[in-house]
Amino acid sequence: MKLDIQQVLKKKESGQKIAMLTCYDYAFARLLNNADLDVVLVGDSVGTNVLGYADVTAVTMQDMLHHLRAVARGATAKFILCDMPYRSYESASQALANARMLIEGGATAVKMEGGKEIAPCIAALTAEGIGVCAHIGFTPQKGGKAAVQGKDPLQAKALLDSALVLQENGACMMVLELMPPELAGEITNALKIPTIGIGAGSRCDGQVQVLYDIMGFPERVFRHAKVFAPVRSSAEQAIAAFATAVKRGEFPESFTQGSK
Ligand code: KIV
Repeated sequence: MKLDIQQVLKKKESGQKIAMLTCYDYAFARLLNNADLDVVLVGDSVGTNVLGYADVTAVTMQDMLHHLRAVARGATAKFILCDMPYRSYESASQALANARMLIEGGATAVKMEGGKEIAPCIAALTAEGIGVCAHIGFTPQKGGKAAVQGKDPLQAKALLDSALVLQENGACMMVLELMPPELAGEITNALKIPTIGIGAGSRCDGQVQVLYDIMGFPERVFRHAKVFAPVRSSAEQAIAAFATAVKRGEFPESFTQGSK
């Protein structure tokens, strides 16, 4: 069932956990569409996972639109959240113009990284009826090594303050990335909108993971990622089996009448 923003908000009220996974293409979007998943995230992690960029700052609006459209063609029954790429929301008017393109491309809502400084952008989009998921804690678009944020009391208070300001300005959801579980729990309790954690413990209202991480694709598995099925090794087996069969002359098998 395709949820809308109100239904996602109700999940928090009724204590139902929210499951979110990234997706970058049509083939996986078809699989996610049939799963009991609440939100499909077209993350800018497409840059590192699919496009081979060194980091997410190289991702453009064109990249996001290209992948978003493919996902939207496949995940027709899902709430699709789409990342606004680096430098696509440096002012409220720029944010609004770019968010409109993403909504036209098939997004249900958009996601932006940052603290209080992005509050005017969130307010501008919300005023135009565009749902915004905020993203605080470790924010990959800022660069630097992925590290737990908010470990000292001052940083923790700054993150809690940012969360409240972003909610006040209209954020409808909030990703909490890499922060101590106690802080994520505190922020979750302080907010009316759902929090979605990644490396932020179990007290969030939902969890998000990168699809390729849960299938064990990256050579380096992040501490906050869990491989739910080793799909990478199955893919390696299929590729190796194909190459061997061709080289041995075992594929294709000799033509039989009626086969496709
Ligand atoms: O782009 C992405 O994959 C994300 C998740 C880590 C939340 O923003």
